[in-house]
Amino acid sequence: MDIAVIGSNMVDLITYTNSMPKAGETLEAPDFALGCGGKGANQAVAAAKLGASVMMVSKVGEDLFADNTVKNLQRFGVDAQHVTVAAGTSSGVAPIFVDDQSQNRILIIKGANAHLSPADIDAAAEDLKRCRLMVLQLEIPLPTVYYAIDFARQNGIQVILNPAPAVAGLDIDYACQCDFFMPNETELEILTGLPVSTEDEVLRAGQMLLGRGLKNLIITLGSRGSVWMQGDAVHRIKPTPVKAIDTSGAGDAFIGCFAHFLIQHGDIAKAMQSASDYAACSVTGRGTQLSYPDADTFHRFLND
Ligand code: RIB
Ligand code: NA
Repeated sequence: MDIAVIGSNMVDLITYTNSMPKAGETLEAPDFALGCGGKGANQAVAAAKLGASVMMVSKVGEDLFADNTVKNLQRFGVDAQHVTVAAGTSSGVAPIFVDDQSQNRILIIKGANAHLSPADIDAAAEDLKRCRLMVLQLEIPLPTVYYAIDFARQNGIQVILNPAPAVAGLDIDYACQCDFFMPNETELEILTGLPVSTEDEVLRAGQMLLGRGLKNLIITLGSRGSVWMQGDAVHRIKPTPVKAIDTSGAGDAFIGCFAHFLIQHGDIAKAMQSASDYAACSVTGRGTQLSYPDADTFHRFLND
């Protein structure tokens, strides 16, 4: 195995609309799509679609979504042996609203994901030890995230921590144990309490976090590209210009692709460039995983 994703899965209920109902009002929306999502599963699927061998440790509910989630992971070659049912819970769901400016608003109901525990990591330990890279997000309980980081450290596994969605109380000492800490601009703002509207502000907020002892800080900035900060060095990746249709899950596309190429060749700047292109390709299509290209489609996108 190359990559272990310990994280969430959700069912994305995506409504395309420009108006939201007021209290007591019923509104019709023009369009809807159902897709598999969740930050963890999205990142696992992106890496697997590009050819990485990926396993996931995750929890589904006791409902009609569970089977579909497991089958979806398997369809893309993700090892779902350690995706197990949390009895008496419902699967995680994410009602998503996308307007015609391609802006998205996402609500998450964690459901079963809130039950992923250190015991689930212990249960998967033998398989996890064979992985080279662990990828974590924050849609599962923080103690489980911390336990996973300790596990990875003890077993010489590299770690990417994507602090999404942002949790102000995240223990930065744990983030410092990870090889890569990868927030987007909003998460950076919440974690530091500093403004991030200009590039200077982003770098200042980044420096503050680096000052706490982070190894590599990679900040994704949506249509403004991304930056990698290490010590005093700053490396910028320009955005890949595309016409955005739906940006949901673009950050996950970036991280899954980055993880894949990091494992492939270890060149961080090059992996970021690929990740930036991959995320750009994903925003040209609707939905989260639904819009992630496989390796062939991605090559065609790059050559167009
Ligand atoms: O990052 C996008 C994802 O966030 C969606 O797939 C949704 O499920 C939420 O987890
Ligand atoms: Na998309």
